[in-house]
Amino acid sequence: MVTTETVQDPQSGLQEEYIESQTADVFSLFKGGKDELIPILQKTQQKFGYLPEPAMKKIAKFTHIPESTIFGVATFYAQFKLVPLGRNVIKVCRGTACYVRGGAEILQKVEERLGIKAGETTPDFEYSIETIACFGSCALAPVVVVNDKVYGKMNVSRVDEILEACKETS
Ligand code: FES
Repeated sequence: MVTTETVQDPQSGLQEEYIESQTADVFSLFKGGKDELIPILQKTQQKFGYLPEPAMKKIAKFTHIPESTIFGVATFYAQFKLVPLGRNVIKVCRGTACYVRGGAEILQKVEERLGIKAGETTPDFEYSIETIACFGSCALAPVVVVNDKVYGKMNVSRVDEILEACKETS
């Protein structure tokens, strides 16, 4: 008897078939050279929003680079994410204009409220916190962007308000 077992990425629930087809798309753009690793990782992350472990294993085979090296590169560069982002992504500006108007305190409050640090995702994948060098809206400093909504002239006391707004739209 033939059984068809569906394999999923345990972190995200992504089906193996989906990962296979998406990575095949990425690989079609490259020759598999070792020097192509970074752009392959970038394109793969564009497909999934992060780097699923099964995809990194396929990249290892495609490039003939050991899996441990692939994981090492992916963890070394801040641009790569090894876990899926939360449903709500809270981006706090760390630029100078925002910093001098209390951006660091706002970030700290968001981290305290969610129990995670910048660059992390809550275990239930509800929230991720990211920091941005400058949103280009310095006149509105300090700035926080939640999903696509911009909150300008932020202050610490409004952090709860924006987290509540996330719940309402979830
Ligand atoms: S420094 Fe924060 S928007 Fe420019």
